[in-house]
Amino acid sequence: MIGKAMQDAMNEQINKELFSSYLYLSMAAYFEGRNLPGFANWMRIQSDEERGHAMKFYDFTLGCGGKVTLKAIDAPRTEWKSSLEVAEEVAAHEAKVTASIYSLYELAQKEKDYPAQVMLQWFITEQVEEEKNAAEIVATLKLIEERGTAVLMLDHRLAKRKGE
Ligand code: FEO
Repeated sequence: MIGKAMQDAMNEQINKELFSSYLYLSMAAYFEGRNLPGFANWMRIQSDEERGHAMKFYDFTLGCGGKVTLKAIDAPRTEWKSSLEVAEEVAAHEAKVTASIYSLYELAQKEKDYPAQVMLQWFITEQVEEEKNAAEIVATLKLIEERGTAVLMLDHRLAKRKGE
């Protein structure tokens, strides 16, 4: 049976993951409006993944005999100055999510909630990937700004060389 403190924290996290999904869907819509279907596709899939994260917390809470209480989801931002600004916001947002997963893990340790600790380990690993993906997009967009696409295309070609 999940304790009250852990249950409340899980409900908070469900809200945060649903907000992430909403924010990324808003970013997808922004890219659609700028004729960047590839970026929009990435954000839309990311949005779906965030809903999946929310559902993992939802199922875990119910599975441990807890109560799920959904709260209002904040309205996400709808306008950005550039693709780079969007990518930087994704990176900053993921860093905040990581901090929140770490807090949940610390609470699970304090509460001696071992099932929650095991479940949260999946999220700790997932956040490493999420932060890495966002950082890579930020870095690539900065390179395009600094050096132009031709250099990046050449770099892509050179990366394909295989040793004998
Ligand atoms: Fe649910 Fe992007 O972390």
